[in-house]
Amino acid sequence: MAVETAPATTSRGQRTLKIHVTVNGVPHDVDVEARTLLVHFLRENLSMTGTHIGCDTTNCGACTVLVNGRAVKSCTMFAVQADGATVETVESLEQDGKLHAIQSAFHEEHGLQCGFCTPGMMMTAVAFLATNSKPTELEIRQAISGNLCRCTGYVNIVKSIDHAARTMRETAEGKA
Ligand code: FES
Ligand code: FES
Repeated sequence: MAVETAPATTSRGQRTLKIHVTVNGVPHDVDVEARTLLVHFLRENLSMTGTHIGCDTTNCGACTVLVNGRAVKSCTMFAVQADGATVETVESLEQDGKLHAIQSAFHEEHGLQCGFCTPGMMMTAVAFLATNSKPTELEIRQAISGNLCRCTGYVNIVKSIDHAARTMRETAEGKA
């Protein structure tokens, strides 16, 4: 007869589950409470505080990360749902001291003021530009429609994403 083992729990009596998730290229095998949101897992378990929490209710997009290459609001997903997945956060963009094209573009076009929305905006833009390398202004505006910015009025954010698209096209064509 099979022996049932009690599920693992924390000292607070919360049930935990073991997950395997690769974050920014680094594999992690960790026990997390079943109720832990992905954004809390990233910020509190992995100390990756680049992913912001603006609303906790799927409205603002500040918590956007890539899960298996798709932009996801990480306050909308449990960490256990990322079991087996590849997650990329804003910390993955800069490589060996070199800014990603989207980071350089936000810098050059002044695509931020307070910067609170910026990690989510950039991750949404990265996922979008992977599917559309030559977007129109309208397409950019539609792509970031799930990301709210309280400061900029969006004009320079749209310019930044267009700028990054141009840079990435030139790099792909070997001009940059
Ligand atoms: S914190 Fe996730 S959408 Fe606002
Ligand atoms: S730059 Fe402040 S919320 Fe977007």
